[in-house]
Amino acid sequence: MALINENYLKLQAGYLFPEIGRRVREFVEANPDKKVIRMGIGDVTQPLVPEIIKAFHEGVEDMAKTETFKGYGPEQGYDFLREAIALNDYQNRGVDISADDIFVSDGSKCDTGNIQEIFGASNKIAICDPVYPVYADTTVMSGKTGVCQSNGYFDGIIYLPCNEANGFIPELPIERPDLIFLCYPNNPTGTVASKEELKKWVDYAKANKCIILYDAAYEAFITDDSIPRTIFEIEGAKEVALEFRSFSKTAGFTGTRCAYTIVPKELNAYDSNGNAFPVKQLWNRRQSTKFNGVSYPVQKAAAAIYTEEGKKQVKEVIAYYLENARIISASLKETGFTVFGGVNAPYVWVKTPGGISSWEFFDQLLNEANVVGTPGSGFGPSGEGYFRFSAFADRDNVLEAMARIKKLK
Ligand code: MLT
Repeated sequence: MALINENYLKLQAGYLFPEIGRRVREFVEANPDKKVIRMGIGDVTQPLVPEIIKAFHEGVEDMAKTETFKGYGPEQGYDFLREAIALNDYQNRGVDISADDIFVSDGSKCDTGNIQEIFGASNKIAICDPVYPVYADTTVMSGKTGVCQSNGYFDGIIYLPCNEANGFIPELPIERPDLIFLCYPNNPTGTVASKEELKKWVDYAKANKCIILYDAAYEAFITDDSIPRTIFEIEGAKEVALEFRSFSKTAGFTGTRCAYTIVPKELNAYDSNGNAFPVKQLWNRRQSTKFNGVSYPVQKAAAAIYTEEGKKQVKEVIAYYLENARIISASLKETGFTVFGGVNAPYVWVKTPGGISSWEFFDQLLNEANVVGTPGSGFGPSGEGYFRFSAFADRDNVLEAMARIKKLK
């Protein structure tokens, strides 16, 4: 008899974004004449920049010639991309990360989920609340939790509430976790963490033998030089943290798929006898067994992000989305909403008007303004009463959506 992984049955609902997609599809089918503006899932709308497209074509051409054709590539990624990442994202910023600590992958969503399997099921995981749902759902899938309580919290997860009172920055936990997911710039609240804040977590992790799983997928949206762009700017972080980075939002790769994870050689976890073991070895074993690497043309395209022209072109696209975020924040504030985030981040986090629930506001916006956002409660119980707008949209649509919401108010 084939048995299922019953941890999957503990999950309360379908994954958040397909659920939103389903509701929007239903609405569109019932209202074919309405123009729906989508600001829900953070999916890019601007095309890949010319420098990336040029390299992508070159990669495809290489595959057409015997001399340059590539079969299986290194599971960890081609050296040309790993070296470009190490130099541009770390060494040039004074952070000592070497190419061989970099694992190129097909996405941070996959990596933040897959990483769970190299850590034992008895690990206690701490996650922020609200949070990117992948961390919580994959913690449940991997058997590290009990059941979900009526308040929406899973037994066995240590929740770190992020609310207005603490500026959406979590306090250190009372109960000691083993693994801690942190994400800055934050999805969904759009807040950023200062150096002092991250140092507090690195020191805590050191003192308690924890590992920080640091998601920096939105790092490219930081324009304030005082905000750390990588956790490895913090002294000692290489001994207690690994970092996820993605080209999805940085350079429009949501459909192209390319990301990377830094697992420093200094990072150890422990076996049941308390012996230290390099996490990098386990991740390398996992990746080389279950993953055959990202396609060569895609890695060629990703490497073009680091050419002088590529950097310039990508920066312009980021500036475009940041301007969207500014417009959304300013317009919603003017309309009377309480607004957070949206600076150094592509997400704007707002309080629902009149204290209505997140899903009620979702329905109201969809039905009356034909605008889609993401209900805060989809990110966890502390997200109830909040709503997320994504700045990944065309400018005209952003302006029209804001005008419709103003009228609604
Ligand atoms: C989001 O909207 O939170 C993100 O697009 C989801 C993702 O990156 O997987």
